[in-house]
Amino acid sequence: MWGVNNIMVLFVLTYICFSLISPVSADVWYDNKAITINKQRRILISGSIHYPRSTPEMWPGLIRKAKENGLDVIQTYVFWNGHEPSPGKFNFGGRYDLVKFIKYIQQAGLYVHLRIGPFVCAEWNFGGFPVWLKYVPGIEFRTNNGPFKEKMQAFTAKIVNMMKAEKFFHWQGGPIILAQIENEYGPVEWEIGAPGKAYTNWAAAMARGLNAGVPWVMCKQDDAPGDVINTCNGFYCEGFVPNSKSKPKMWTENWTGWYTKFGGAVPYRPAEDVAFSVARFIQNGGSFMNYYMFHGGTNFGNTAGRFVATSYDYDAPLDEYGLPREPKYTHLKNLHTAIKMCEGALVSSDARVTKLGNNQEAHVYSSNSGKCAAFLANYDPKWSVKVTFSGMQYELPPWSISILPDCKKEVYNTARVSAPRFHAKMTPISGFDWQSFIDETPTADDDRAFSGSGLYEQLNVTRDTSDYLWYMTDVTVKSAEEPTLTIMSAGHSLHVFVNGQYQGTSYGSLEQPQLTFSKKVPLRAGLNKISLLSAAVGLANVGVHFEKYNQGVLGPVTLKGLHEGNWDLTRSKWSYKVGMSGENLGLHTFSGASAKEWQQSAVVQRQPLTWFKTTFNAPAGNDPLALDMSSMGKGQIWINGESIGRHWPANKASGRCGQCNYAGMYTETKCLGECGQPSQRWYHVPRSWLRPTGNLLVVFEEIGGNPRGISLVKRTNM
Ligand code: GAL
Repeated sequence: MWGVNNIMVLFVLTYICFSLISPVSADVWYDNKAITINKQRRILISGSIHYPRSTPEMWPGLIRKAKENGLDVIQTYVFWNGHEPSPGKFNFGGRYDLVKFIKYIQQAGLYVHLRIGPFVCAEWNFGGFPVWLKYVPGIEFRTNNGPFKEKMQAFTAKIVNMMKAEKFFHWQGGPIILAQIENEYGPVEWEIGAPGKAYTNWAAAMARGLNAGVPWVMCKQDDAPGDVINTCNGFYCEGFVPNSKSKPKMWTENWTGWYTKFGGAVPYRPAEDVAFSVARFIQNGGSFMNYYMFHGGTNFGNTAGRFVATSYDYDAPLDEYGLPREPKYTHLKNLHTAIKMCEGALVSSDARVTKLGNNQEAHVYSSNSGKCAAFLANYDPKWSVKVTFSGMQYELPPWSISILPDCKKEVYNTARVSAPRFHAKMTPISGFDWQSFIDETPTADDDRAFSGSGLYEQLNVTRDTSDYLWYMTDVTVKSAEEPTLTIMSAGHSLHVFVNGQYQGTSYGSLEQPQLTFSKKVPLRAGLNKISLLSAAVGLANVGVHFEKYNQGVLGPVTLKGLHEGNWDLTRSKWSYKVGMSGENLGLHTFSGASAKEWQQSAVVQRQPLTWFKTTFNAPAGNDPLALDMSSMGKGQIWINGESIGRHWPANKASGRCGQCNYAGMYTETKCLGECGQPSQRWYHVPRSWLRPTGNLLVVFEEIGGNPRGISLVKRTNM
């Protein structure tokens, strides 16, 4: 029988052997300048589209628009918690049909960069990890931990093997030219030290050992081992230098905007600045650049990370609904055309850099075979400058780069936008007739509740099967009085009820998920029922050992100012109930909704914990649709049983928008018009979820709002 040592030796030999032969035999590899495909160096323009953030019906159109824009590669993460919702039970259907998504890309003639992770960050619930992973005995995420490495390897291998079985790798005739292991692990390794380093080396060797036959990248990982390529993520990456002279300069995430968080303004990054960052990267020798995101899409259901909005629009070139965002889409398309005209010169020579002025440079690529391409850059954020290059005069606007694919004629300047400026328009189509149902406020003696001593951590109880956990306790006082109830919660939002009466809501934020509720509450003589509804708003998706973060009411919980003194309820007997009754009854589904008696004329005054339902026919045409939820507070929306996600228009953008503008020309930081507005007002309704008639729309409202203000709108460009 073979001993463990023999097997190890074999493994190491196979690994060394593979490492040695792959650069030579692989039809996709790389050298110091670029990724090579069939031994040809390529300048590759890539864009992120995350398959579960749109519907399979949308995929072909999104991919076509990416191709028309001049992209060569579609980049996506692989979303473990969508694929393995419970251990060993896999889901590769519907929005998680990864194989179908890649087939569409292949049919369009584009390449794929598959970022398996399986940690993905991505503002995705739990960074892509299944919640059950947290409860594997002895596990610690993203470090040199046996149980974690075993599960990570099993999932990564499953995906690589699935891709091989589909013949999806390039050497098999498929579209995948690149893979990724981990995601921005460098900063974590820096923080945790030796175990982090060991984990990095293990992850790289493990990935390489899967024999995918394409290069692996590790983004933001300066010590990416061996032939794994370290890559840059950021708003600008022109100064990035890979960790070996034999690796090309690659940019895996050029942030085209940023994500919206509940409580934040809608981010914006000007097309000119994105174009400038790309041209600057390419002129400085970069050869692979990916837009994160090219199409951001929607965080349907409970897929959003902590405090991340349901919209993942990202100010991307294709908007949340899949429509070109102008002028960004066309301005970048024109940029790609110009860069492609330079490809021959870029891949066959190194730049000669000359000064054209104090803050101006020329980067000239001229090959032995006579190809020549030049980039003329003006880094001054304020002033236009006239420069002379090869005896000719050029006018360079501030913070811009001109591209001259023959070293003579300028075909493109990053700051001169010829593309049309469209504005997205939301046109109301119809309102709705609602019926309503007021959910119960359970108390400690509820049949389905269980109890224990003290306060339980929320995720441990719900395992994320619902956002909601009720914490209930009884308090007996001698006479009626009004003490101050103070509740400390690890997050994320809290609604407080005393004897069934709503007392108020407190919530945290992305920066500070913890919250405190403190208010005088009316107690009556005798027994009083305190019911706290703690609601999660997604699980953390980033941070060192984010699996250890808590949520829910962890205390202290106190009543102060009673005649009998101050009471600490933290260690009292508490009862628990997971989910709203309406959820447990399946009110969002056709069968659940019809089994229940609803109030025919809906409550329209602010009434917490109310369900609303209506039916409607699909509007004619193909324009994308959304719900205007501005009259509502916070809750969730379903169409025909499918979850659109969380709505929270009551959480408004405060003050300034720190992410509106970026460096260089765009240093202004004032809010660009979204202040005091809901962080998210409109919620995408995918066309493919609708039937021609009788669509069931269900809204669960936590705080209270006027459903008559909800309307179906269509999105158009104008
Ligand atoms: C990066 C990360 C991405 C995404 C992005 C922000 O650091 O790699 O997954 O989270 O930030 O949108």
